[in-house]
Amino acid sequence: MSDDKIERVVDATLSDTPLAKEYATLREQLARCGTTTDAFDPKPYDARAVDAAREMWRVRMEVEHRSTTVFAQLASQLMEANASLDAKAVMLRMAYDEMRHTENCGDVLRAMGVEAKVETNVVCAPLAVHKNSSPEQRALRNVIYTTCMSEMVAVARFVDTLDEMEDPYLRDRTRLLLADEILHGQFGFHYLTAWKDWLDQHPDEVRSLERYLVHAFAVIETMLAGPPVRPIERTKDEIALGLPEPERSRDIFFQTMEHATVPGLERFGIDAGKSWRERRRLA
Ligand SMILES: [Fe+2]
Ligand SMILES: [Fe+2]
Repeated sequence: MSDDKIERVVDATLSDTPLAKEYATLREQLARCGTTTDAFDPKPYDARAVDAAREMWRVRMEVEHRSTTVFAQLASQLMEANASLDAKAVMLRMAYDEMRHTENCGDVLRAMGVEAKVETNVVCAPLAVHKNSSPEQRALRNVIYTTCMSEMVAVARFVDTLDEMEDPYLRDRTRLLLADEILHGQFGFHYLTAWKDWLDQHPDEVRSLERYLVHAFAVIETMLAGPPVRPIERTKDEIALGLPEPERSRDIFFQTMEHATVPGLERFGIDAGKSWRERRRLA
């Protein structure tokens, strides 16, 4: 087995040690909202729609688990950039949030009648190091990509899903995720505020960010939007259970980039609009 692939079954269970109590204390203290019900009732829905919802939460569990590694690595890059103590601590909190989200997805799988287990590659993909960049530039690039871009799209999609979905149990569990993702999406803009003076003093670093964004916008478009898709008509049950419509999800990506991410970055003197219009993969 090569080192870039180690398949393991990841579950959402706790150890039978004092670590479980410590984790539960943290979970309670950092929860932003509660839940109203612990039981999922599949009876009102078509079985195929329930199966699709279960699969969506299984994939979500895998993605949330992997997101932990991104923020955990980014915390190290913030250390190298000598970021403020609060920024470093909140980045670690965000890594921990994603672990809680993994547990939340596991709870949903159990409530939907299956084990909270997912077989996945547990090798941590290394974060981009942006060779020849300063530590400050490297951290800014990865913060912008992961939070101002990726997490902002996640927030917009969760808001849209919550707008439509009706199942009380799954609504609760989606709201738990969204409550944290809002902070994750805002993190980069707070971080840029903290670095505004530095950016003003280093116009060459701002130009470097703009060059990076030309590439980053193209990459994230492939990752989160992909090629145009044919719209599908969802059933009433699929909508009630929070299943997305692919074309609508794709449209939310473009709306988020054009109406939230780009203007948000431009507030800091970064010409993100030009980078977005000229987006393409660079060597
Ligand atoms: Fe998450
Ligand atoms: Fe997140």
